[in-house]
Amino acid sequence: MRTDLTGQVIFITGAAGGIGSATARRLAREGASIVVADIDKAGAERVAAELPSALAVSLDVRKAADAERAVEATLERFGRIDVLVNNAGVNTFKDRVDIDAFPEEEWHRVVSIDLDGLYVVSRAVVRPMIERGRGRIVNIASVVGVTAMRLQSAFVAAKAGVIHLTRSMALELGPKGILVNSLAPGSVLTEGTKKLFYGEDGTFRAQMAGFMQHVPLGRPADVEEIAEGILFLCEPSNSYMTGHLLMVDGGWTAGFMF
Ligand SMILES: NC(=O)c1ccc[n+]([C@@H]2O[C@H](COP(=O)([O-])OP(=O)(O)OC[C@H]3O[C@@H](n4cnc5c(N)ncnc54)[C@H](O)[C@@H]3O)[C@@H](O)[C@H]2O)c1
Repeated sequence: MRTDLTGQVIFITGAAGGIGSATARRLAREGASIVVADIDKAGAERVAAELPSALAVSLDVRKAADAERAVEATLERFGRIDVLVNNAGVNTFKDRVDIDAFPEEEWHRVVSIDLDGLYVVSRAVVRPMIERGRGRIVNIASVVGVTAMRLQSAFVAAKAGVIHLTRSMALELGPKGILVNSLAPGSVLTEGTKKLFYGEDGTFRAQMAGFMQHVPLGRPADVEEIAEGILFLCEPSNSYMTGHLLMVDGGWTAGFMF
């Protein structure tokens, strides 16, 4: 597939780190101008400074006023938004507990960022896309939105919501020239998840090695491998795909490794 994003303006939430920053770098390499949007303003500025054409914006995805301001700043700088990548997200690491003990605060924290935040940002960004009669949205879900996992009920529910919301947005926005797809990463090595995979001494933890036996490729993804999937969904020549869920999970959801 030809990949060329020259002249495209791509707005990525949660782009100060992890999958978001890797995606910003990858798409910029194809010629895109990147809006690096993150609650971590200093981090967003650091990533933007590395890229040839970029704007850092401070954005908490839960806040409609932040989203409106970020859209205005983008339109002022670049004149339009071609693609929105709804990537910002959090998971529960410390509160891995059964549903009957799942803390209410943690439930609301995860759902408000992972699901409500995606709605808040999409609503703001889609308006100028509708006016232009074209655009793309890529929503970052998770394998657990398809195949549930124990002890992470808020994350599992929010990501299932992201997948189905993607379909409903695709139905509404297709007639307006806007394609909406989602991508489900499996396990991905980021600064955050490295702590889960590697112990204090830097060796792969036995528990995670057991977990990886259920993944046909036998290892977590690097962030760059997820960015390749996102690039595929952004690429203008990939023009007849909407409402789709792209699994980038090393085969995790293909079946049982028994
Ligand atoms: N890492 C994985 O194993 C994995 C697996 C499946 C899905 N995902 C999904 O991929 C996406 C990126 O995850 P990651 O692992 O790169 O995470 P990460 O923690 O490395 O990065 C997330 C980014 O989002 C930003 N952020 C957090 N809350 C925000 C808010 N309220 N508003 C704006 N920005 C906010 C953070 O500052 C950070 O820069 C998330 O949606 C996550 O659920 C990750």
